[in-house]
Amino acid sequence: MVRLSWLSLSALLPFVFCEYKIALTPSSGLLITEGNKTIVNNTAILAGAHNTTVSALRNTAQGLTYAFLTPTVAKITLNTSNVFHGARFSASETTRFYGVWEYPFNNRIDNANISFDLKGVGNNVGINWCNARAPFFLTSTGYGVYADTLKMGSYDFTHPGDAQFIFNSSSLVYYIILPKDEGGLKSIIEQYTELSARSEIPPTSGLGPTFWSDDFTMDFHGSVSNAQENIRDVVNHLYDNRIRATSIFADRPYGSGNRSWGNFDFDPIQYPDPVAFIQNLTDVSGIDFQVWIANRAQAGTKIYNASKTDNWLFPDDHPLGGLGEALNLSIPSAYNYFDESLKYFASVGVKGYKIDRGEEGEMPDYVQNEQMALFLDLAYDSMVGTWGKSLFYNFARSAVDRSRAKTHVWNGDSHANFTGLAYSVSSGIRSGLISFGIWGSDTGGYTREGVSTPSPEVWARWMWFSAFSPVYELMLGTNHTPWYPPYDNTSTLAVMKQTANLHADLLPYIRSYTNDVSKTGRPIIRALFLEAEKDEKTWDINDSYFFGSELLVAPVVSAGGSRSVYFPVGPSKSYLEYFNKRQIYPAGTTVNITSPLTSIPVFVKQGAIIPRGDIYQGNAKWIEGWTPDLRLELYPSFDVPESRFTYYGGGAENEIILRTNKADRSATVDTGSLELNGWGVKLIWYLKGAEDGKVMATKKRSQGGLVTVTNIETLF
Ligand SMILES: *[C@@H]1O[C@H](CO)[C@@H](O)[C@H](O)[C@H]1NC(C)=O
Ligand SMILES: *[C@@H]1O[C@H](CO)[C@@H](O)[C@H](O)[C@H]1NC(C)=O
Ligand SMILES: *[C@@H]1O[C@H](CO)[C@@H](O)[C@H](O)[C@H]1NC(C)=O
Ligand SMILES: *[C@@H]1O[C@H](CO)[C@@H](O)[C@H](O)[C@H]1NC(C)=O
Ligand SMILES: *[C@@H]1O[C@H](CO)[C@@H](O)[C@H](O)[C@H]1NC(C)=O
Ligand SMILES: *[C@@H]1O[C@H](CO)[C@@H](O)[C@H](O)[C@H]1NC(C)=O
Ligand SMILES: *[C@@H]1O[C@H](CO)[C@@H](O)[C@H](O)[C@H]1NC(C)=O
Ligand SMILES: *[C@@H]1O[C@H](CO)[C@@H](O)[C@H](O)[C@H]1NC(C)=O
Ligand SMILES: *[C@@H]1O[C@H](CO)[C@@H](O)[C@H](O)[C@H]1NC(C)=O
Ligand SMILES: *[C@@H]1O[C@H](CO)[C@@H](O)[C@H](O)[C@H]1NC(C)=O
Ligand SMILES: *[C@@H]1O[C@H](CO)[C@@H](O)[C@H](O)[C@H]1NC(C)=O
Ligand SMILES: *[C@@H]1O[C@H](CO)[C@@H](O)[C@H](O)[C@H]1NC(C)=O
Repeated sequence: MVRLSWLSLSALLPFVFCEYKIALTPSSGLLITEGNKTIVNNTAILAGAHNTTVSALRNTAQGLTYAFLTPTVAKITLNTSNVFHGARFSASETTRFYGVWEYPFNNRIDNANISFDLKGVGNNVGINWCNARAPFFLTSTGYGVYADTLKMGSYDFTHPGDAQFIFNSSSLVYYIILPKDEGGLKSIIEQYTELSARSEIPPTSGLGPTFWSDDFTMDFHGSVSNAQENIRDVVNHLYDNRIRATSIFADRPYGSGNRSWGNFDFDPIQYPDPVAFIQNLTDVSGIDFQVWIANRAQAGTKIYNASKTDNWLFPDDHPLGGLGEALNLSIPSAYNYFDESLKYFASVGVKGYKIDRGEEGEMPDYVQNEQMALFLDLAYDSMVGTWGKSLFYNFARSAVDRSRAKTHVWNGDSHANFTGLAYSVSSGIRSGLISFGIWGSDTGGYTREGVSTPSPEVWARWMWFSAFSPVYELMLGTNHTPWYPPYDNTSTLAVMKQTANLHADLLPYIRSYTNDVSKTGRPIIRALFLEAEKDEKTWDINDSYFFGSELLVAPVVSAGGSRSVYFPVGPSKSYLEYFNKRQIYPAGTTVNITSPLTSIPVFVKQGAIIPRGDIYQGNAKWIEGWTPDLRLELYPSFDVPESRFTYYGGGAENEIILRTNKADRSATVDTGSLELNGWGVKLIWYLKGAEDGKVMATKKRSQGGLVTVTNIETLF
């Protein structure tokens, strides 16, 4: 598209184009206006000696600067003699404020009535330790505010229409971010991500299917006598059942020493030959291997001894439980020791970490953000030297925004019931709103309060949700391995196979979006309102989302199997049921949908282009002479003259364009130079009246280019 320059645009459209202006108000707040319209009402700049006594800064001549950095980003700098600094914003009472925390307080996707610190959230309804966070909020009226700091902050959204933050910092920079071009709220997330940090593209193996156990050193079956053999037993069952897998990780315990952590090794009884074992797992079985780590030093271990000698541990007045103390990573020698010690794991073939804790009281709360960022930096550093960028998978429970450049996240210890599932879906939506785009949840739940295993119903529903999550990871092990008693459930095993294999087949689509995440910060799991901004009915929807921009996913998050689905106005005039390709739902309607345990309500947009196929072999060694296979599902509609999809296959991007022509009833796809190892891609057109019901497939093995179908009736 040809973009007009600012000058020619304003010359052509003098009445439409307006500039944002920022100015101090008589009461020492800041206003951003566009013409005579107030866009942002930053009612007060706050400062104080104690966080409970901050007040509006009156003498604003000193220590305050403000200016537009770009036409849509204003930078505000505060630097006074006060210890705490912050700001308050006012809008109409119906305004929604989104962001800040991944955890969905009250199972909401906005922050109505919440007042909490920018720190780990602890044990909570639905999920314990759901801790990704960012000093960034986004309003339904169309602006964002990003406080650029790792200091401790307190956010307050308890007064309807108001948002306030205060940071423990003698200086503070915050940005007010306005929408860019026609980009709307998504462009605010993009600009925020550009100012803070963007995610790396994860390796395809990190996206899963990933299987793990909370404790591979127990629950042995058959001839298994140690953890290493126990993992092989899982690998063999996945293979025998033809269930796709790309990674396995070992949670604690796996090492020697006190509570199995802190000596930077594998327990020789559980893992007699870690080097050969991991190499075999990766090279022969096609499965990458990750291990658990945390900033913890248990008495008697190597890291504890070194810390004691050099005084690296936080002073003892923190609740420790039996879980060990933490190192103050602001001390350079502590940081370097930890970093060097961790390099052992990469040296034996480990390709990433599950990074736990950092918010359990092992350090003063006010250093949580800074310390977690340091730990995620060193965890990244200890891997990247061996593997290189994007070739290992680190994922953390506790992460603050800038760390998204160093780690991906899982949503913490979800509860193994429908409450845990429902909260996990809304936390996935919230995670996207703070730009942690590469995300997964423990499929089936982790915390087993009152239940020893997820029920088959909960587990199946969750497996479907994970199939349509960026990352599919599933915990099996003691009492909940589908192929062993007491679980021993063939229907659960069947759904596990169905969903893991579907997730694997969606990797071309998901991987393309991980490229988008890394370039723009736009999430993969998208709140409905990110795609349907003008539809106020989407503002509070916490149980369905766009997966990328072409699929609307509505997981079943309660018992029974029915749920209501709202079809947003804006992205598509109607939506097609994705699996049976029969039902069509007009935008703006709400419909009750019933879904068996063997499916999930998913809908596709008019004009969608969905790449799918087998692009990563992983453990699928049962396929002899495996070669990659890519197919493009095409959903033309005469309501959509042109649609595009940017396919990313690991190297260059390919722009795929689908055009329709109502006058001559044709559709054309332009696959450009897209090819796959010298093979073409398969095209699958979804059209009305095709022979086998509704589908007509055109296979193509040439080098790409244009393919046209004529005389067609579109499905929707
Ligand atoms: C604001 O500006 C618009 C366009 O310039 C004008 O039509 C409108 O009357 C103004 N409103 C007020 C309250 O001044
Ligand atoms: C900004 O918000 C304050 C507090 O709610 C209000 O008194 C003031 O009128 C608002 N200013 C504008 C221009 O809307
Ligand atoms: C804040 O102001 C002080 C004194 O004017 C200056 O020394 C310091 O560098 C400033 N800090 C920042 C972060 O700008
Ligand atoms: C807000 O939270 C307070 C304290 O938790 C509660 O008493 C109040 O009812 C809540 N208000 C709304 C509107 O949810
Ligand atoms: C403000 O004080 C409370 C109570 O001590 C504390 O929990 C909170 O973390 C403090 N907030 C900041 C920004 O330091
Ligand atoms: C604010 O940070 C300082 C260190 O910079 C710390 O000593 C103090 O306890 C913190 N205040 C609160 C309320 O957490
Ligand atoms: C290595 O992997 C192969 C294929 O999965 C398996 O048969 C064999 O037992 C493995 N060897 C060891 C030592 O784990
Ligand atoms: C293991 O660590 C805990 C907590 O640090 C400590 O209380 C305990 O004494 C340690 N056990 C041994 C055997 O060192
Ligand atoms: C740490 O120090 C204790 C006490 O000196 C010792 O018993 C232990 O073996 C040391 N741990 C390691 C891993 O060297
Ligand atoms: C952590 O170490 C740094 C660097 O030595 C020090 O300034 C800071 O006070 C320490 N933090 C705590 C909470 O002990
Ligand atoms: C899920 O478990 C929690 C306790 O872990 C409980 O409070 C909640 O009511 C349970 N939810 C359902 C739907 O059973
Ligand atoms: C959906 O089902 C609920 C409960 O059975 C019912 O109250 C509601 O009217 C139904 N909604 C639609 C749109 O059919």
